[in-house]
Amino acid sequence: MANLKVTILHDVWEEGAPEPEPEPVKASRGKNGKRRKKKKDPLHDREEIFEALAKLGHEPSYYVLDGKNQSLLALAKCGADLIFNLTESYAGHDTMDKNIAAYLELLDIPYTGGGPQALYLAQDKSIAKKIFDFHKIKTPDFATSYKGRTDHSHDIEFPLIVKPVSEDGSVGIDSESVVDSVKELMERIHYIHEEFDSPALIEEYIEGREIYAAILGNDNPEVLPLIELDLSKLPKGTPRIAGQDVKFDHDAEAYKVTKSAPAEDLDEETTKTLQDTALAAYRALKLRDYGRVDMRLNKKGEVYVIEANPNPWLASAAEFAMAAKKAGYSYTDMIDKIVELAHARSM
Ligand SMILES: Nc1ncnc2c1ncn2[C@@H]1O[C@H](COP(=O)(O)OP(=O)(O)O)[C@@H](O)[C@H]1O
Ligand SMILES: [Mg+2]
Repeated sequence: MANLKVTILHDVWEEGAPEPEPEPVKASRGKNGKRRKKKKDPLHDREEIFEALAKLGHEPSYYVLDGKNQSLLALAKCGADLIFNLTESYAGHDTMDKNIAAYLELLDIPYTGGGPQALYLAQDKSIAKKIFDFHKIKTPDFATSYKGRTDHSHDIEFPLIVKPVSEDGSVGIDSESVVDSVKELMERIHYIHEEFDSPALIEEYIEGREIYAAILGNDNPEVLPLIELDLSKLPKGTPRIAGQDVKFDHDAEAYKVTKSAPAEDLDEETTKTLQDTALAAYRALKLRDYGRVDMRLNKKGEVYVIEANPNPWLASAAEFAMAAKKAGYSYTDMIDKIVELAHARSM
């Protein structure tokens, strides 16, 4: 492939990051209106991606969308042949990543990963789950509740897990998320409303193994070897879920006793069900280039899709790269493949 000017586009979402100027904040406030701080892992994948791009002979650079209009305007003139899109939010709003992808389309700059459609469909878990249902992809039965209004079509049974409908990084998910009684359920719905000003997604809790499928490709997507997050060593009495502590809190016991690794002891049939289910979810939500589907496998061998993630984290220590490595891709090969897939769309 020709050498390309590849701009790594990212947002700022760090504690203490400068507040956007008053005017653009107002203009960019989402329907929920709240600007929240998100706890992110301090390890960024962008430096590793930069290094891989340089090794591949491309001309990498960084560009930050800082939430101010000026950074949007200047992006139009950045001169990139391709954008490596790592943005997850805009001006502190984490449902705005779809708008960034849509803006790149208006600018006619090719970019990696999901388009605005995928980012929208995957972000709202209740919409994603309705689409899964249509495609007969198993996903836990659910309801949503927002300020007294409920949306449901199935009966749902305890235990339930209550989550914000549109977050990621396990924001709003901790040991209190799994509820066993109406009282706990009410309290948790209230918490989600108060803390996130967001509808609560109330979903049947699936006890089982936590399996991730990384998928690479478009016309013939490749399901990379399955990864398991082993939650079996979490302290007794706490639910076996990947809450924020498990994902990001390096000092927490929950972080230390859990780890991801290529899944072992899965028979051929179960492996195939997991792969086929993940692929169906990837296609149903129109994911592109690369994605990761999070699933639960229960004792009966049933597979449930918990969510599909467009543009998952690409750090070499994260699950996507772990799966790519197991499939025989070096980190650089993996980045090459993603660039190639995105670039092919512009040809
Ligand atoms: N229905 C469910 N049954 C069992 N565990 C769940 C369920 N929903 C979420 N979890 C647990 O919570 C974690 C985070 O949920 P998820 O919906 O993937 O949120 P996020 O988008 O923040 O990653 C999952 O990885 C899983 O461990
Ligand atoms: Mg998840």
